[in-house]
Amino acid sequence: MADCIDMPSLLIYALRQATEAAARATYEWIGRGEKSRSDRAAVAAMRNAFDNLPIAGEIVIGDLAGEAENSLGVGTRVGNVKGPIAFDVAIDPVEGTSYLAKGQTNAMAVIAMAPTGTLYRPGPAFYMEKFAAPPKARGKIDPKAPVQEKLHALAGALGKPVADLTVFVLEKPRHNELVDKIHSVGARVALYPAGDIAGAVMASIPDSGIDALIGTGGTPEGILSACAIRALGGEFWARIDPQLPSEIQKVKTAGLDTEKWLSLDDLVASDHVYFSATGITTGLLFEGVERRQGAEKTQTLLISGLTGERQLLTTFHPLARTKGEGGADA
Ligand code: FBP
Repeated sequence: MADCIDMPSLLIYALRQATEAAARATYEWIGRGEKSRSDRAAVAAMRNAFDNLPIAGEIVIGDLAGEAENSLGVGTRVGNVKGPIAFDVAIDPVEGTSYLAKGQTNAMAVIAMAPTGTLYRPGPAFYMEKFAAPPKARGKIDPKAPVQEKLHALAGALGKPVADLTVFVLEKPRHNELVDKIHSVGARVALYPAGDIAGAVMASIPDSGIDALIGTGGTPEGILSACAIRALGGEFWARIDPQLPSEIQKVKTAGLDTEKWLSLDDLVASDHVYFSATGITTGLLFEGVERRQGAEKTQTLLISGLTGERQLLTTFHPLARTKGEGGADA
């Protein structure tokens, strides 16, 4: 671990290879109505890219798309460093599979990692209720308070009227009442059909146009969001909130506490956290993959918890050149 702590810049820069590979692999599937094929392509590309990364990692939040031997399920070892596992790794090769399949904005490929044993393992819980906000809100919001109270506390922490707050909410029937409550205090709601990692990350970046994310979404997306937010110094709370009858039963059998609000320390118990997300289709955080003049362009958001730095990296990846096309191979 000591070696890894000494090379955060190398690690965060290396991580981009895996999200960029996943995003690029899905390019052909944008807007073709093929959710699972795009997911399989992203998983396979991410898995290959992990083989070149200088880490010894274990997937703790995974994706089972593809053949068993090629999937990135929980327990898969990743990285080319042999020896004791140094990192817990959380992945979402395609966050927003429906956006991608429909050719809509906001799909991305995401990875986060933190020292082994520090990422929360949600077991059978698929949904969690989430609250995300900028750094100024740290320690100032009671997660158990009613939504209206939370918004007043947030407005106070940010030093602006509650009417100037914009809250990201997933547009789902389960959130109808939540939306009414947010409107009742005069705040704005930004409704998106999917993609709450983008909402949570935007909420933790001051003056991004989104002041908070509230509502229930995926647990994997919650852990990935928590990694980014811990690194950015923002506020995040989450509570296991099973929605499906089978999930409710499994969560009960596993003895998970659905009343307890999990803090950032519960979800990501280390500042040595790394987050990389690459746009597949253009969205709130960055541009999507573009193919132009012999190269594929990607934009990747890199966040390192050790420094708190966030970088937006634009890369032009040369496409394989064919004979007679010009350049060195012609
Ligand atoms: P996709 O299934 O389209 O990839 O959607 C991802 C997502 O919108 C997450 O961002 C969110 O956390 C979760 O799904 C919400 O799940 P549901 O759509 O089942 O409410």
